[in-house]
Amino acid sequence: MQKAWWKEGTVYQIYPRSFLDSNADGNGDLKGIIQKLDYLQFLGVNIIWLCPVYKSPYYDNGYDISDYYKIMDGFGTMDDWEELLNEVHQRGMKLIMDLVVNHTSDEHPWFVASRSSLDNPYRNYYIWRKGQDNGREPNNWASEFGGSAWEYDPITGEYYLHLFSDRQPDLNWENKALRHDVYDMMTWWLKKGIDGFRMDVINLISKAEGLPDASGAKEGPYQWGRDYYRNGPRLHYFLREMHAKVLSKFDIMTVGETPGVNCEKAELLVGEDRHELSMVFLFELLELDYGDGDKWKIVPWKLIDFKRIISDWQDFLEGIGWNSLFLNNHDQPRAVSRFGDDHKFRVQSAKMLATMLHTLQGTPYIYQGEEIGMTNVKFPDISYYRDIDTLNFYKEAIAAGIKMEQVMDIIHARSRDNARTPMQWNNSEHAGFTAGKPWINLNPNYPEVNVEENLANPDSVFHYYRQLIKLRKEKAVLIYGDYRLLCPNDEHLYVYLRVPKLRRVPGCGKKKLAEIQKAEKDIFGNNSEEKILVILNFSAEVKCLNLSEDIRYQESQLLISNYSSTNFALEIEVRPFEASVYSLS
Ligand code: GLC
Repeated sequence: MQKAWWKEGTVYQIYPRSFLDSNADGNGDLKGIIQKLDYLQFLGVNIIWLCPVYKSPYYDNGYDISDYYKIMDGFGTMDDWEELLNEVHQRGMKLIMDLVVNHTSDEHPWFVASRSSLDNPYRNYYIWRKGQDNGREPNNWASEFGGSAWEYDPITGEYYLHLFSDRQPDLNWENKALRHDVYDMMTWWLKKGIDGFRMDVINLISKAEGLPDASGAKEGPYQWGRDYYRNGPRLHYFLREMHAKVLSKFDIMTVGETPGVNCEKAELLVGEDRHELSMVFLFELLELDYGDGDKWKIVPWKLIDFKRIISDWQDFLEGIGWNSLFLNNHDQPRAVSRFGDDHKFRVQSAKMLATMLHTLQGTPYIYQGEEIGMTNVKFPDISYYRDIDTLNFYKEAIAAGIKMEQVMDIIHARSRDNARTPMQWNNSEHAGFTAGKPWINLNPNYPEVNVEENLANPDSVFHYYRQLIKLRKEKAVLIYGDYRLLCPNDEHLYVYLRVPKLRRVPGCGKKKLAEIQKAEKDIFGNNSEEKILVILNFSAEVKCLNLSEDIRYQESQLLISNYSSTNFALEIEVRPFEASVYSLS
């Protein structure tokens, strides 16, 4: 286990279109972000992940890039971006950029050239195939955004692969020239001084040879080809090449968006001796309530499974690689609506979830608005929605005969627009997000849920996040300590310990043991006795907790709680959505 700045930091994710609009065009922009850097510094976060601001037709909100070297006009200029980077660094914070290289926009000059003729030098930058003799697409893969993953292009009479929308053709990573162009582009941004990348669907870049047909029971003519494009055969080769040629040359962090990865696969991506990525997002947790891997099929989730997944990752990666901790982002429903209670216990449950994020081993990621307890939105009908994925689902579901009411219920729970409603700054018109007409409506709860109110109220979700971030900085055991799950079978309570130890590799020799002991001394110093106990109630009822006598301590101190003080005891009544963190020594 090595110390690193990105292990000790807290990341704040900015979805720029919905953050703050400085020029009244209804869309957030770079100058808006600069205006709020003091706010973020006050919160205490020190790494900003900026979602795409590159030139783009914006069909998938910037995840369809047409020029990797330019800033999209709507967000500002390259000078504005330079100013942002500078202002971030002046505050002692870091900036990481989104890297979207599984696909480009269909307006990217590479694709424009690629589609122009069969022998264009850029033809092989994308994945082109002939249709089948029976007039069908080259294979039966479904696009992640609905319909076929292939689009016929009349110019050359062939199909191109697009795992997302037909406006997002997949790049052909088998082509060395493409890979080197990508590495040059990454180096160009790193030389500008950025501190790392969040890598969009990075485990999709290697496709199985022959692109075989997928089997499955998905309704309709297309099946998920995920077995053939997630974690494909050459993924690790590509990532190691990228590491050797680019990443290893800078002191940066990387985090991979890698759907369909369990902890064993994660180890291959983030193992410290593997030279690939620093972290990957723990999507397995967010797929808990997907039926058959389909996010639009909602199934109930159970805390026991939730704990098991987190614990598997905590245990498996301990001493080997690093975790990322997140419960929502720009593609996911709001955490408090999904895993907490966004009505009666909104404040308590938002704080309880935050407690978990800051007390497990890994780097916490806060998605904009989470720090004030923003919730899902229930727009009355489809005309309010903007997200391409939601609009495609709506069309397909209505065409399949599903009742409108049911379709809207699913959209209310799952639409990516839940996370994309504008940031709620105050209770004035449009929540202070814009002086113009916002690109998407606001969540109507902004008069109660907003930054101004949170800042003024010492008991707010915001101030609680602030305390947690501060606490994590003060306690090395919260960052590097080992994780021990208690009461694994409790259906409502999540209880664990963090201990000032680094795990021993099974069967490790004397030399290794001495190294571990030295690292322990460096990390925990004289605080080698302090354990942290975390108790979280995921239910809206009072629950009894009986801890075993093994939780020995002479002194206990409540470090933080979302309720007024509780004294530690081996038998405790834990209140609805209560979170308490104790120091035991
Ligand atoms: C990732 C992004 C998402 C985007 C998709 C295609 O999942 O987070 O917003 O639509 O990739 O780029």
